[in-house]
Amino acid sequence: LRRAAAAVSAKTRWVDDFPSAGVRFADLTPVFADGPTFAAVVAALAAAAPDAELVAGVDARGFLLGGGLARNLGVGVLAVRKAGKLPPPVQTVEYALEYGTAAIEIPADSETLRGRRVLVVDDVLATGGTLAATVQLLEQAGAEVVAVAVVTEIEALGGRARLEKHPLTAIVQI
Ligand code: PRP
Repeated sequence: LRRAAAAVSAKTRWVDDFPSAGVRFADLTPVFADGPTFAAVVAALAAAAPDAELVAGVDARGFLLGGGLARNLGVGVLAVRKAGKLPPPVQTVEYALEYGTAAIEIPADSETLRGRRVLVVDDVLATGGTLAATVQLLEQAGAEVVAVAVVTEIEALGGRARLEKHPLTAIVQI
């Protein structure tokens, strides 16, 4: 974990005022594009839930991590999508953004999730709205969320408190 953290810190590109004024965006493109760093990140996050039966990756960078984690663990992967991307029937959870609301969706198919141990992954934990909504969505579908894993946690935004019922792994806390 320590070696992965050093590599992530060295390769993260911080962008001020994106996507809106006052927001500091963590661009992990160079982290994912470097083979040894991506491998170290995937291994560190997979260790958060070695007994997971399914990995759920959050739109959009969580998809990249989710595929890697699923292969590492030898399980399948589920894409948790931004609203409007999946054909019906879907299950939806709305959540608050700084301004307005957003929604995420999964297919409304009970067999994929009911009773299964799921590891949730995304690139960044900021306010926690996205991951809290994801956990709610998966639990509504009958899954057991065994762990939540992110590459980077922005501690000052307090997202961890919104996920307090689930073990949270972050490679880098800033
Ligand atoms: C970013 C990031 C997380 C979310 C974290 O996604 O990838 O999914 O924000 O923020 P939160 O903890 O405050 O909810 P973004 O909104 O940039 O969407 P994208 O992946 O489609 O670019």
